[in-house]
Amino acid sequence: MTSTEINPTEHNPTAAGSGRNATAAFAAKERASGPVDHARVSAIATDAIAALHEVVRRHQVTYAEYDALKAWLISVGETGEWPLFLDVWVEHVVEEVANADRKGAVGTIEGPYYIPGAPEFASEATLPMREDEKGTPLLFQGTVTDLDGKPVDGALVELWHADDDGYYSQFAPGIPEWNLRGQIRVGADGHFAFHTIQPAPYQIPTDGSCGKLIAAAGWHPWRPAHLHLKVSAPGKQLVTTQLYFDGGEWVDNDVAQAVKPELILRPTPAASGEGNEVTYDFALDPA
Ligand code: DHB
Ligand code: FE
Repeated sequence: MTSTEINPTEHNPTAAGSGRNATAAFAAKERASGPVDHARVSAIATDAIAALHEVVRRHQVTYAEYDALKAWLISVGETGEWPLFLDVWVEHVVEEVANADRKGAVGTIEGPYYIPGAPEFASEATLPMREDEKGTPLLFQGTVTDLDGKPVDGALVELWHADDDGYYSQFAPGIPEWNLRGQIRVGADGHFAFHTIQPAPYQIPTDGSCGKLIAAAGWHPWRPAHLHLKVSAPGKQLVTTQLYFDGGEWVDNDVAQAVKPELILRPTPAASGEGNEVTYDFALDPA
């Protein structure tokens, strides 16, 4: 057992619980809509289906395996785990394609646990947290600029992350609604500072469909500890990203393959004497 392995208790989130909440959050999300591009749907669907055919032939997939796949796909939907599955095993490539031309701050996957509308603060904030919130205190600060390094007035920095047990508010039971979620509207100097705690590594719930796949394949269910961010400003491209901790467990072996070298923080002991501090700046591409 590793030090970060979680023993199931009644307080732990279940796959069905996290999945249900993640599916509801996705359903509430504003999504692009417009006329259907039939040629593009046909091209993508044809190639996706052909890719599956190729896998069946290459591995000589049997009827027993085909039935196991059917049963598994049905169960992913029933437990609401599609957001968890897709964001772990597919989103990182979509992000790579979407942001290939970006020159400024590096992005990575959003994951299933973003909720818009977190409590808003000006320039310096302590994230909402429980009185006895566990974890090493962390001062996370930086500046939002344009590509020339000029501070961007009125940028919005949204931060959300797991707690010291690796759980997210609004997706695991028993955590206050906006725990470890907040946003800062920066002033003319572009500077922001969040007082929070360092999150723990995140484990994909092992008791559901994603967990079944991981167990059957003999993989591991871990993501390294990470901060989630969305940084935006009028006239600039929004960047969705995550920041990781140098030397942290699973940084070199993320199940979601979302770590990039530019996204690794190297915190140092805080000047205040309490916990750690780290500075990370965001340069935003023009919209
Ligand atoms: C998943 C969870 C995360 O916290 C994350 O950042 C990415 C993916 C998931 O369970 O799918
Ligand atoms: Fe996450």
